[in-house]
Amino acid sequence: MTAVQDIVGAEHVLTDPDITQSFGTDWTRAWSAQPLAVVRPADTDQTAQVLMACKKFGVPVVPQGGNTGLVGGGIPHRDNEAIVLSMTRLQHLGTVDRATQTVDVGAGVSLARLQAHASAAGFAYAVDLAARDSATVGGMIATNAGGLRVVGLGDTRQQVMGIEAVLVDGSILRRLEPLAKDNGGYNLSQLMTGSEGTLGVITAARLRLVRAPGTQYVTFIGLADVESAVSLVADARARGDLTAAELIRSEGMKVVRQVCGLAQPLKAEHRVYLLLETAELPELPDDVDAVVDPRMWEYRDRQAEAVATLGIPFKLDVCLPINSIAAFLTELDTLPDTQGREVHVYAHLGDGNLHINLLDIDVEMADRLDEQVLTLVARYGGSIAAEHGVGVHKTKWLHLSRSSAEIATMQAIKDTLDPAGLLNPGVLLP
Ligand code: FAD
Ligand code: LAC
Ligand code: ZN
Repeated sequence: MTAVQDIVGAEHVLTDPDITQSFGTDWTRAWSAQPLAVVRPADTDQTAQVLMACKKFGVPVVPQGGNTGLVGGGIPHRDNEAIVLSMTRLQHLGTVDRATQTVDVGAGVSLARLQAHASAAGFAYAVDLAARDSATVGGMIATNAGGLRVVGLGDTRQQVMGIEAVLVDGSILRRLEPLAKDNGGYNLSQLMTGSEGTLGVITAARLRLVRAPGTQYVTFIGLADVESAVSLVADARARGDLTAAELIRSEGMKVVRQVCGLAQPLKAEHRVYLLLETAELPELPDDVDAVVDPRMWEYRDRQAEAVATLGIPFKLDVCLPINSIAAFLTELDTLPDTQGREVHVYAHLGDGNLHINLLDIDVEMADRLDEQVLTLVARYGGSIAAEHGVGVHKTKWLHLSRSSAEIATMQAIKDTLDPAGLLNPGVLLP
């Protein structure tokens, strides 16, 4: 540890287990392992030097941002195996470049801080998610975070113009210029995007901004079934002003109201609830039970928090062709290990992205649920890893979404960039 202390300063190498424990436990509390140490570099050069020292001594490195990831990818896999490289000190926030509508940002900047910075300059950052106060730019790029506005504004990948990242040998890939056109071979910034800390450590990025939104209507609608919700999403899409289409099933509505003390917002209870965010008021059937109120976002934003308050949640994040969602959910509810249980489903419905949550699930049942649900997803032509990443949770199931040729190509890239397998061992690749 002395070598690393010399680089970042002794006060930025944390070794007290009482302090490092939280860096080794993920947000859900489903995964936990004691870090060897937590190392907090101040900038790109220190990051490069730490990586070179880790390479020299053969010490595995787990890059970490806000530790809000949900697939066990941002914490060590085994006790005292790896250091956590916490990137939260990289807080650089460049001046917004109005001519190119971009900004350069340090990896440790939180989403909320980036959004406030963009807003102060009259713009907005397209990606939004409920963990905005803690999730960092580095973590969001590493997971290609999706969130609440993908249906209208795209995922993180679509906002990344270029990144700066450090490879395990300390070399620095830097592509931060605001160039709209720049073809020079393989796009390494996009290769790093979604690589979950397995190929390099992201230290900064050049991100696109969007126009600040004008008036937005948030319409919260109670419906009898998912088919009706999908149909309303299709109508809203066709009008071209849809920026969010989120779904909550009755189980999730019950839990969020109970845990967060929220009132019943509609006249009656319903099987499903749809939140639409649009620039014009959506056209709805006359007899529909609905309310237009921006405060309805709270019922959706606090879904993950509400379920996790009741216990350690078993979570799956999957994507389906949107027209298959109703049929998929019918089958989901009747799988051997979901039958008779409360299956909490909330969704970025516009993207076909479902979050499936169950409580009181032991390790054996979790394994069975993974197999039953993810096999079903594959049968419907869906993705087993929609927006949270593969992490450690889904490495075993990657073959359901990627061919052996694709996995072999990814492995070859990994072996080239990180031959000793020091960056985030156990994550993403089987
Ligand atoms: P961490 O959790 O610290 O790390 C996540 C992964 O990225 C790990 O594999 C880690 O090794 C890697 N990583 C982190 N920083 C770096 C870096 N600088 N360089 C290289 N690799 C790095 N996700 C969504 O996509 N959409 C949502 O709507 C959404 N909502 C959420 C709501 C709640 C309440 C919570 C708790 C989480 C939610 N998430 C969502 C998941 C999570 O917030 C995202 O995955 C986010 O991108 C993680 O950012 P982080 O900084 O916390 O990363
Ligand atoms: C959400 C997270 C869990 O959408 O992705 O709330
Ligand atoms: Zn989500």
